[in-house]
Amino acid sequence: MQTDRKQCDFLVLGSGIAGLTFALKVAPHGRVCIVTKKHRAESNTNYAQGGIAAVTSKEDSFEMHVRDTVEAGGGLCNEEVVRTIIQEGPARIADLIALGMKFSEREIPRSRGAKELDLGKEGGHSKRRILHAKDVTGREVERALLAAAAEQPNIEMLEDHVAIDLITSHKLGLGGPNRCLGAYVFDKKNQRVITFQARAVLLATGGCGKVYLYTTNPDIATGDGVAMAYRAGAAVANMEFIQFHPTCLYHPKAKSFLISEAVRGEGGVLKTIEGVEFMDAYHALKSLAPRDVVARAIDSEMKRSGADYVLLDITHKTARFTMERFPNIYGTCLQYGIDITKEPIPVVPAAHYQCGGVLTSVNGETEIAGLYGVGEVACTGLHGANRLASNSLLEALVCAHRASQQVTAAPLPPVDCAIPDWQSGEAADADEMVVVSHIWDEIRRLMWDYVGIVRTNKRLQRARKRIDNLQAEIQEYYWDFRVTSDLLELRNIATTAELIIHCALQRPESRGLHYNLDFPNPNLEWAQRDSILRHQLD
Ligand code: FAD
Ligand code: SIN
Repeated sequence: MQTDRKQCDFLVLGSGIAGLTFALKVAPHGRVCIVTKKHRAESNTNYAQGGIAAVTSKEDSFEMHVRDTVEAGGGLCNEEVVRTIIQEGPARIADLIALGMKFSEREIPRSRGAKELDLGKEGGHSKRRILHAKDVTGREVERALLAAAAEQPNIEMLEDHVAIDLITSHKLGLGGPNRCLGAYVFDKKNQRVITFQARAVLLATGGCGKVYLYTTNPDIATGDGVAMAYRAGAAVANMEFIQFHPTCLYHPKAKSFLISEAVRGEGGVLKTIEGVEFMDAYHALKSLAPRDVVARAIDSEMKRSGADYVLLDITHKTARFTMERFPNIYGTCLQYGIDITKEPIPVVPAAHYQCGGVLTSVNGETEIAGLYGVGEVACTGLHGANRLASNSLLEALVCAHRASQQVTAAPLPPVDCAIPDWQSGEAADADEMVVVSHIWDEIRRLMWDYVGIVRTNKRLQRARKRIDNLQAEIQEYYWDFRVTSDLLELRNIATTAELIIHCALQRPESRGLHYNLDFPNPNLEWAQRDSILRHQLD
């Protein structure tokens, strides 16, 4: 395989909200290279619907937002981190607006046409506080950030480039504390591996929804950042807390289409297929209960009735309201023959968000010098055992800003050591590649069946045995075969699946999103404990 070399000050892996925000903030301080797997806008960010939670109204307060976040987090949030992120939210929203982001507005009553930001509501929030751009908030975030990045001469963007692995001083046998020196990156179009040297590397690779058979996430979400950081020796925490979104559209032709929680925020009600409301049996907040509760309730109703889905009904609202507030959801459902102004929407839970990740400070620092992590890839302590809706875009904005300040205030010296080129296997037998797609499917089904919304020790043990065997098969392939993005992603989903299973096995209790029938209650000893995993470096 061909190789090449490149150098920059800041290497950013990922072009979602975390990577782009960081890149824009460090660009005045040095050369930035953003490496991104597919098209620049393709990211979880791009599909965000509900919006960004931030305190902007007089009826709201930081204290209330903190309380809601901590309550949703099942006792595991780091309250200091929660406070920092929530208090700095309004300033970061102002930055985003200054960059050109257009949030939805509404007319202030009795004000002769004056406008204010329209605030949505979602599960677990005691106040209306979600800033949104109708139901396509993420698309508007990406548009605004990408437009701003295109204006910056110091930012280079490389699409269809997949980061393979981080380069660290430890891997090069250099001694001293482990430092990140860059990354190997696969250039898909030119079929070559580039050795990138950088003073600082930001992991902004997002989450891992594709580890599960059913997910709201796009194809890019294969846990690459978590897997790379783990292999490099950074601590990974709380991976058992995978958030299942309660309402993904159920339709044979629809792939991963989310029906925003904001639909329930505006009065949408969950019903069985017979049209009976059921959430009052599970939580006082009914359809607007925290996500872990709603997803488990739907799972339990589906198991009880044998139905493949439940219904989400917003037909009591006027057609005009629904079409104006949720144009994307309305239009997409209509394409599948469902008029949501007249009939309820069939929905099922699906893997949505990774609450754990690479252990970082609120400034994005990992355990490896020169390696930062921001956004869904990181575990800062904000989300605890269950993320409050719309807190993740907020976290990415605040932490990207803080990481940019940290990295520019205390820059590491330039990398001056010889970094070897990437060594790759050369086999490329097309017949054998069927094995890659087979193992992909097997992992995703295994995770759905054994490590899903409701877990047991027996199923987790079985999952661990299967993943150990599959890992051995993947290792054999990985080193013999020529690099492809499918093979790289397979290796990463296998590692991420393994981390989720191991974290789940570590926690002898049920808390937030981790629900184990063998330990149905929280365990006080684990109330403040993160499940932390570190790869033994040789
Ligand atoms: P992403 O936006 O996922 O970006 C990751 C980037 O990394 C992508 O550019 C990807 O191509 C790139 N990448 C990945 N691996 C590699 C690699 N190996 N090499 C190179 N590049 C790589 N949160 C909210 O707060 N509010 C919402 O309303 C909301 N709605 C959501 C709706 C949906 C359907 C989904 C899926 C998520 C939603 N979330 C929401 C969650 C939120 O969108 C994400 O947590 C957030 O956007 C993550 O941002 P990020 O920058 O960390 O990662
Ligand atoms: C949604 O719109 O329901 C998603 C919000 C989120 O995941 O934060």
